[in-house]
Amino acid sequence: MEALKIIANPLSSFFFTCILLLFANAASAKTHYHDFVIQATPVKRLCKTHNTITVNGQFPGPTLEVNNGDTLVVNVVNRARYNVTIHWHGVRQMRTAWADGPEFITQCPIRPGKSYTYRFTIQGQEGTLWWHAHSSWLRATVYGALIIHPKEGENYPFPKPKRETPILLGEWWDKNPIDVIRQATRTGAAPNVSDAYTFNGQPGDLYKCSSQDTTVVHMDSGDTNLLRVINAGLNQQLFLTVANHKFTVVGADASYVKPFTTSVLMLGPGQTTDVLIKADQPAARYYMAARAYASAQGAPFDNTTTTAILEYKTASCSSNCVKSKPVFPSLPAYNDTATATAFTTKFRSPRKVEVPTEIDENLFITVGLGLNNCASGARSRNCQGPNGTRFTASMNNVSFVLPSNFSLLQAHHKGIPGVFSTDFPAVPPVKFDYTGNVSRSLWQPTRGTRLYNLKYGARVQVVLQGTSIFTAENHPIHLHGYDFYIIAEGFGNFNPKTDTAKFNLVDPPLRNTASVPVNGWAVIRFVADNPGVWLMHCHLDVHITWGLAMAFLVENGISELESLEAPPEDLPVC
Ligand code: C2O
Repeated sequence: MEALKIIANPLSSFFFTCILLLFANAASAKTHYHDFVIQATPVKRLCKTHNTITVNGQFPGPTLEVNNGDTLVVNVVNRARYNVTIHWHGVRQMRTAWADGPEFITQCPIRPGKSYTYRFTIQGQEGTLWWHAHSSWLRATVYGALIIHPKEGENYPFPKPKRETPILLGEWWDKNPIDVIRQATRTGAAPNVSDAYTFNGQPGDLYKCSSQDTTVVHMDSGDTNLLRVINAGLNQQLFLTVANHKFTVVGADASYVKPFTTSVLMLGPGQTTDVLIKADQPAARYYMAARAYASAQGAPFDNTTTTAILEYKTASCSSNCVKSKPVFPSLPAYNDTATATAFTTKFRSPRKVEVPTEIDENLFITVGLGLNNCASGARSRNCQGPNGTRFTASMNNVSFVLPSNFSLLQAHHKGIPGVFSTDFPAVPPVKFDYTGNVSRSLWQPTRGTRLYNLKYGARVQVVLQGTSIFTAENHPIHLHGYDFYIIAEGFGNFNPKTDTAKFNLVDPPLRNTASVPVNGWAVIRFVADNPGVWLMHCHLDVHITWGLAMAFLVENGISELESLEAPPEDLPVC
């Protein structure tokens, strides 16, 4: 009788329905369990077999597919001879910083023979992300796609494509990539450039011993295919084009964008771009091709071209017939900054978004290279950088040094002193003409593990200012644990007097990796609503090795839901 009365009350029946809905929702969200065994596997590319570090013997690694709202539980077992961690690039990891993965930042490495289980939930993100090793240069071969579909029963904000194809662009060394970076660290010189780029692990028709295995993407005349493009390369921004077709860009970094068409994409390492491609051309075979966007003047780069084939179903033929030669697309010149800029400045959010307008923390961070002078008495074989120096890199003149006894997150959580300081400078210690002719006295940064403290909920603006120290180049700057709005970008030195007029506070794109233009700047904004220690770094691995990084320490908020979860029991110790 009493219960009936409650249900009859309109207000409580409203709550009752809410609770039912909540249960229904929770029931549709799934938990996906995976085992990742890190192991050496023979992989043959460019005529040579290498003992490549892979996940489960697969190269590239397994594609994970989930729906928005699902939970991933990935047990990583390290059967390789190197330390390893896995980073879920672009996953917000709300309150689960322990599962983020960067070595010595949120966890100690998983030692050979040990394991660690990453647990996290995808919240409010849809589109394409990826996962990769975050230890030394292992991500050269330890990477894969992470595809996030809309919640069950929900749709894309564009007509459902007939097919979906992940396109992982990678970089291949005809050596052990770990040896390549170890050698560079020893000599102080720049590491060797890669020997090939790859489409889903395959270099394609323009490389030796490769055409047999060229990646083929199938299309049916009239159909639309959703290509989920990921730049999983280590050190190179890439242009991607396809012969006789156009791309319609619909998403990037697991956020939707206002659709626009383009014949060329440019992705920095770390970035993803979702594009629709329509089979509206005569049934035939067409090349997709990717090669470097090399913005640094005079710096060596891998100038090869990787290809895949877009093949209309009717144009394919069974084993013994002669296939027509695919049509080849035109590609931008390697140094075509105008094309790169025209592309990156086209991105908009699909509609008006809430960009923080009042700013609590206003940072100005220089990003660029440097050269360390060698001490007199240093061996010349360890000083093989330009004019007997060693390469380095920094943010606001601090070259970031990883701790080795604790991860930063553990040190923060347990209050262990002496692991880091929180005095990362909010502005460069010296103001100079960042993109001009920089005095040699400003080329040598200091070293340190310096973090920047943010209160929970702080509204943050960061001006990322490229420098021309040694050489200017485009830097793909990635922030862990967050998506940010890119509200403006430009060339030269950022000028607060005139450049604020260019801020897009209406519909800027939401990204996790910003391409800071060569000899230029980008302005990003975010709200510090995710507690933890979050690395921000250049996604060119050679630059992270040299110290082009810093980290934010975001404090807990008031309630439990605003606080970092307890660390998992199997969190590796150093
Ligand atoms: Cu995709 Cu810190 O990296």
